[in-house]
Amino acid sequence: MSNTIITPDTVESNDKTGLNYKTVIETFGCQFITSQILDNIRKLTNQTKLHPFFENDIFFAHRDLDKLLNECIANKSNNFYLYTGRGPSSTNLHLGHLVPFMATKYLQDIFDVPVIIQITDDEKYYFKNNDDGLNQYRSYAIENIKDIIACGFNPHKTFIFLNSTNTSHFSHNHIKIQKKIKLHHIKSTFGYTDDDNMGRVSFPTQQMTPSFATSFPHLLSNQYKDIPTNPLDNILYQLSEPIYPDIKDMKCVIIAAVDQDPYFRTLRNIAPKIKEHQPIVIYSKFLASLQGKNNKMSASVNNSAIFLTDTPKQIKKKINSFAFSGGQETLELHREIGGNTDVDVAFQYIQYFSDNVNIVQTIKEQYTSGELLTGELKKTCISILTDIVLKHQEIRNKITMDDLKQFMTPRFINQS
Ligand code: TRP
Repeated sequence: MSNTIITPDTVESNDKTGLNYKTVIETFGCQFITSQILDNIRKLTNQTKLHPFFENDIFFAHRDLDKLLNECIANKSNNFYLYTGRGPSSTNLHLGHLVPFMATKYLQDIFDVPVIIQITDDEKYYFKNNDDGLNQYRSYAIENIKDIIACGFNPHKTFIFLNSTNTSHFSHNHIKIQKKIKLHHIKSTFGYTDDDNMGRVSFPTQQMTPSFATSFPHLLSNQYKDIPTNPLDNILYQLSEPIYPDIKDMKCVIIAAVDQDPYFRTLRNIAPKIKEHQPIVIYSKFLASLQGKNNKMSASVNNSAIFLTDTPKQIKKKINSFAFSGGQETLELHREIGGNTDVDVAFQYIQYFSDNVNIVQTIKEQYTSGELLTGELKKTCISILTDIVLKHQEIRNKITMDDLKQFMTPRFINQS
């Protein structure tokens, strides 16, 4: 029987064709992204073809994206911001880590909206069973932020922050969310036990808080001016002027891999109780590990991942020696019955990272018919991945601390 487990901690299946995303949608209660939704995105953004992430069904599930798009069409304005994040567990990102950031950067470009990126140094500190101090994760965070900036975010419309350095508005909303969520709910949703540390149990609400525009009036409201820096004056100001009408109806669109749903599903349930909008979510499938589509790429599993620091030689070796193949045992058999793109990992990487949707279709047809051989398919994959990784390295190497400072400085990022 096909069995798929997806939680923020575990992603696996016993089936080589991959994780069963249909079951995920049913158990999580999300919707599939339909062709009608893609049409509406194209219409709103004047695109004829969208990024392969959307054309190739990699971002496949959502909550309320249809409603948001209808609202944008009716109001002729994109009154939302994008929110995504990263848990800085090591300095070394792999290609799978890049997917939500590449998607968010793409959506920022086509919709021209603000982006908020949360770096959860607290999360990794609470979750790892080792003696590393919080500062270890903060230093990973700095390295990870370089990779994130290298994805090409608009510096005037993007804010990146570490959880351990939050602002008062953020705390205000965080406190309200915490009050509405019961411990038993967190334990059953995330599988935490009484042996887990307090930080871990209370972390989920940290990840939920950026989903409300009111957590960031200093970034999103153009009425937020000349706020007193003294804590007492600041509170007195907030008591006299607690809301920012211009961001009251601003929606949040969360870009994440589908394992992050427990956070946002929980938040959507309580949002109306604290008079906030439910965030919209868009979820991706996982980038397969080199060993097969039944596991995701993982930095901690040897040879399961292509890292952003890999050399062309390493990429070539990993794809040729490790990428699980859907090709047949012998040339004759392959010519006769063709390859299986459903299980082929190199094919999946092409689907994710080729910028040409038509080529992907041609490769699929030629591979399934036996015309294209595994070696040839892998060669195309290697060339696409090498190109992406080398370009990334070139941009990342030029990123300076001043660039980081620009992205991390709290400032108004919602100008049209
Ligand atoms: N928990 C995520 C991780 O481990 C990081 C994260 C924080 C995130 N906020 C987010 C991911 C919002 C997606 C959307 O990587």
